[in-house]
Amino acid sequence: MSTIANDTFLRALLRQPTEFTPLWLMRQAGRYLPEYNATRSRAGSFLGLATSPDLATEVTLQPLERWDLDAAILFSDILTVPDAMGLGLRFAAGEGPRFEHALRTEAQIRALQVPELDKLRYVFDAVSQIRRALTRDGVQRVPLIGFAGSPWTLACYMVEGQGSDDWRQTKTLMYSRPDLMHHILRVNAQSVAAYLNAQIEAGAQAVMLFDSWGGALADGAFQEFSLQYSRLVLGALRREHEGRRVPAILFTKGGGPWLREMSESGADALGVDWTVNLGRARELVGQRVALQGNLDPTVLFAPPERIEHEVRAVLDSFGPIAAGEAAGHVFNLGHGISQFTPAEHVGVLVRTVHEHSRALHQRGA
Ligand code: CP3
Repeated sequence: MSTIANDTFLRALLRQPTEFTPLWLMRQAGRYLPEYNATRSRAGSFLGLATSPDLATEVTLQPLERWDLDAAILFSDILTVPDAMGLGLRFAAGEGPRFEHALRTEAQIRALQVPELDKLRYVFDAVSQIRRALTRDGVQRVPLIGFAGSPWTLACYMVEGQGSDDWRQTKTLMYSRPDLMHHILRVNAQSVAAYLNAQIEAGAQAVMLFDSWGGALADGAFQEFSLQYSRLVLGALRREHEGRRVPAILFTKGGGPWLREMSESGADALGVDWTVNLGRARELVGQRVALQGNLDPTVLFAPPERIEHEVRAVLDSFGPIAAGEAAGHVFNLGHGISQFTPAEHVGVLVRTVHEHSRALHQRGA
């Protein structure tokens, strides 16, 4: 088994005792970092960056060079999977993702297939290369997270062809032709499971399923069209590699009302957004899963003293942690960091999470 200098993140996900609350940030490598923007312009485009294992490795490490983060996350995107299915992904400048061949006809949907994993080779190569770059003299600095979109969230972009405020075309298909929507979701679930297993085999030490649009669904529809398929993916994952358990995190943005059901999905941890109270969530999910979250990313626009105050409030809201107890909290934002965030404010956050949580763990407060 390889050695990890700081495996606090993996221990927290598995609800084992830690000395402090580990943290990483969704979109920690991104446009709020000037060095990211420099590498991105060398690559020519976001996709140029994501498809080059050398450059993806470089930007993955950038936030870790600045701050004492407890995990690295593969630099890629959830939309690589539908792209490999032939939907034709592009990122129009300043407009977000677009698919050239959005799913609009029954024939297109029936023709959908699990992609050849070889088309995603560049992702697995990036994973292995990042692992090597994180390792010096046989010791890996922090664990590496792999990820994918949930079957439902991928379907949203595949049907709509782009982001949306109301997902009107996606939900129209879901309500009028549920059979076709279920077909897309079955193909997506198989694809995502194979994709995550290949990331694990390439060296990802934890995986996260981003269900960014599960919260757009009505109660009932969420269980049928989102959670059911996330559960399929989680059940098909390889859970051990290199002699270690590979924890899986399920993050449904807006998933607060369904945490109890999500805690029975096979995930080791649930990501939660900022609408959730961590202490109450902890009561709901009991000993079944760890929790990851949940600072509102816009807090990072406030002055440093206010950031410190809000970070401490999130840590305190999780509730008491007896000395040596398995707390099961990974600190994160409730959604991705904004591109307009002042980078130096992230340093304030990282320092406060480590200092305040060390005190909480020692005190066994
Ligand atoms: O967290 C990380 O640092 C890892 C990298 C990562 C990216 N996208 C890089 C990225 C991760 C984990 C994602 C996931 C992702 N991608 C999600 C799920 C998480 C969420 O935000 O809800 C979604 C919905 C996508 C799809 C996507 N990719 C959108 C909607 C956009 C445009 C919006 C935006 O922020 O510009 C992207 C582009 C994207 N993916 C960027 C980055 C750093 C910005 C692209 C750029 O550099 O121009």
